[in-house]
Amino acid sequence: MRTLNVDLGARSYPIYIGTGLLRADLIAPHIPGRHVLIVTNDSIAPLYLERAQAMLSGFDTASLVLPDGERHKTLETVSRIYDVLLQRRMDRQTTLIALGGGVIGDMVGFAAATYQRGVHFIQIPTTLLAQVDSSVGGKTGVNHPLGKNMIGAFYQPRAVLADMDTLTTLPPRELRAGLAEVIKYGLIMDAEFLDWLEGHMPQLLAMEHDALAVAVERSCRNKAAVVGCDEREAGERALLNLGHTFGHAIETATGYESWLHGEAVAAGMHMAAYMSQELGWLSAAEVERVRQLLLAAELPVRPPAIAPERFRELMAVDKKALAGRLRLVLLKALGRAVVTAEFDDAALTRTLQHFASAG
Ligand code: NAD
Ligand code: GLY
Repeated sequence: MRTLNVDLGARSYPIYIGTGLLRADLIAPHIPGRHVLIVTNDSIAPLYLERAQAMLSGFDTASLVLPDGERHKTLETVSRIYDVLLQRRMDRQTTLIALGGGVIGDMVGFAAATYQRGVHFIQIPTTLLAQVDSSVGGKTGVNHPLGKNMIGAFYQPRAVLADMDTLTTLPPRELRAGLAEVIKYGLIMDAEFLDWLEGHMPQLLAMEHDALAVAVERSCRNKAAVVGCDEREAGERALLNLGHTFGHAIETATGYESWLHGEAVAAGMHMAAYMSQELGWLSAAEVERVRQLLLAAELPVRPPAIAPERFRELMAVDKKALAGRLRLVLLKALGRAVVTAEFDDAALTRTLQHFASAG
């Protein structure tokens, strides 16, 4: 087992990465009270709920199984968590356990942040995306009809258990979507990791636990470093959104149905790399390297056909647009990203035109 620390002073916490981690001795020290509520969904419950309950048999443990799906990531669903907490008179020493992917993790974290102004919470992420991204760093929340992730709070867990065993049941498409976020860390801040990923993509796609554990650890290490410096996204944390502004435009245009988030981010990262070349920061060979790595991970590298003007409109509603000025994460080099609103707009136009015609 590998252990990483997210360094946030009094709110620091460990991320455990390995196999066979659903163990009482690992989790119990992070549960201060008697009451525990495990929250999961109806796809994950048949796979892992019993194991989680067994691990927590020493506590007064209840479980709640929510419906699966991003469309249920709402305040109404979070209210069902409050209902159980209140019906069972669970107190401020209660620990909420999120057993699932990013949707469960974000909702349970938000419930933990808000129930009685904050109770303890532990993440057991069961998708690769959740293990390398959403379970780490304390962004919690739900969607609103007018915008994704628009209601939320920064609220850190007490521990994260990233168990490679839970990934064995993950649909391959979900694994690949998680790989997009893994590749993201290489591109924004870790050129050495990028080299490693180029050499290990077949092992990762084959879900070899050792390779996955390396990828999860390195990703979490990078994320923890960023979050440790900029927990509330005053600056540097925005680097973690490489490809996301282009990606959100794709997700919005396609109604959040046909593209997984990671797939949209993959195409978005290629677009960001291409635009970085248009700005003279990356060479054509470097952009091709990005494209090849995404293709090796069996991820899309192009958006669907969207007219440039429409694409631009969709990008403008991204919450990273500050005071009407679009901010983008772009690449100064492979392994070195910047967040900037100061770019030549013509480079964006050329990028959108290139991908509209290539689409
Ligand atoms: P998800 O939670 O919807 O999980 C994807 C699918 O896989 C679901 O159907 C789920 O039931 C299923 N699943 C999960 N674990 C499984 C397993 N081990 N075996 C079989 N099936 C399993 O999606 P996700 O990709 O994990 O997360 C996406 C969400 O995360 C989005 O809502 C996004 O906004 C959020 N997110 C949050 C952050 C953050 O920092 N908080 C970062 C990135 C993404
Ligand atoms: N997923 C981006 C962040 O956690 O900041």
